[in-house]
Amino acid sequence: MSERALPPRPEPPADDHQPHMRLSKHQLLDALGRMRAAGTADVLRGELNALRAMLADSASPLFGVLLESDLAVCSAHVLHAELAQIEAAQTLERARYYIDRLARGLSEVRTAAINDINLNRWKEYDDILTDSLWQVDRRDSSGAHTAAYWGNFIPQIPNQMMRRYTRRGDWVVDAFAGSGTTLIEARRLGRHALGVDLQPGVADLARRLAAADGVGQTVAEVHSGDSASFDFGAMLRVHGREQVQLLVLHPPYFDIIRFSEDPRDLSNAASVEAFLAMLGRVVENVAPLLERGRYLVLVIGDKYARGEWIPLGFQAMNEVLQRGFSLKSIVVKNFEGTAGKRQQRELWKYRALAGGFFVFKHEYIFVLKKK
Ligand SMILES: C[S@@+](CC[C@H](N)C(=O)[O-])C[C@H]1O[C@@H](n2cnc3c(N)ncnc32)[C@H](O)[C@@H]1O
Repeated sequence: MSERALPPRPEPPADDHQPHMRLSKHQLLDALGRMRAAGTADVLRGELNALRAMLADSASPLFGVLLESDLAVCSAHVLHAELAQIEAAQTLERARYYIDRLARGLSEVRTAAINDINLNRWKEYDDILTDSLWQVDRRDSSGAHTAAYWGNFIPQIPNQMMRRYTRRGDWVVDAFAGSGTTLIEARRLGRHALGVDLQPGVADLARRLAAADGVGQTVAEVHSGDSASFDFGAMLRVHGREQVQLLVLHPPYFDIIRFSEDPRDLSNAASVEAFLAMLGRVVENVAPLLERGRYLVLVIGDKYARGEWIPLGFQAMNEVLQRGFSLKSIVVKNFEGTAGKRQQRELWKYRALAGGFFVFKHEYIFVLKKK
């Protein structure tokens, strides 16, 4: 699939909630050039104020973008903060250093090999989470996303992971596709995604939802099958691919939710050990698909059994680590449970106090790198 078939690469940030200005890149660079050429602090301040005046006037040439190639989408607060920094510089030399940095951010794209994040404009990625503790108050319910499939993850998880660990046009496999959250998000971000779920009805649902939210001509394909034995290679070869750039695994959290009656369903494993062995087989089946140096994201929570905390998350993480991966990060994400559970919050509090335990409020996102 050619890059041309994809929607145009968004200027950073892709979708945060800060106000953005659509500016003419060459007009802005010209204004910065005039500031840089200033021989005295007073002249520089005059040019800087002239630029601020243009930014405040939607009729100024700064806002006259005629060509897509001339478009610079700038976060208003970051741009004004950069201008304030230039103004506060103690010397002209220092001010020119800040001006050059700002101009570089507008004219040069510097990315790491595995994503499209423009490091020259890193300050603008307010909406990309880089801390290991995530407190997400609301699930993204835009577009085709729905919370209707019990046990699906919030779209923010695949969104964050794909933006950090893939580029536009890359390929993603989700081996526990469920209602297709990863696929919906992949299409929105211009990534191709292939998903497998054991239940044919659920795979149908994912297929329908992902098709409804299509952007550009990305592939979003869902099959039903057992991910421990499914021929992912054949599925990829249909698209002329041998490998993918990201694996997403959001398995059942053992038997917390029973997804089906199928004995191949990980939620029907006879014991924790059997569950881990089944997960291990899925990892063995999908790991060869992943390019070396790329990432597998495992999303899972812990459970209680007979009054004992079962560290399912870490045990599952170990299954991946034993199969040629190193650990890059562990994210702990808040977990509010189902609406029904929320109503029972008081009861859980009582039970926790009486039973000496703590109520689950988190799950894990393990980020593992293929060696
Ligand atoms: C936690 S859910 C995934 C939810 C998904 N991330 C979403 O947002 O909708 C786990 C899924 O794994 C599927 N599953 C269980 N065992 C499987 C297996 N052996 N192969 C493929 N899928 C399996 C279940 O049917 C269920 O839909």
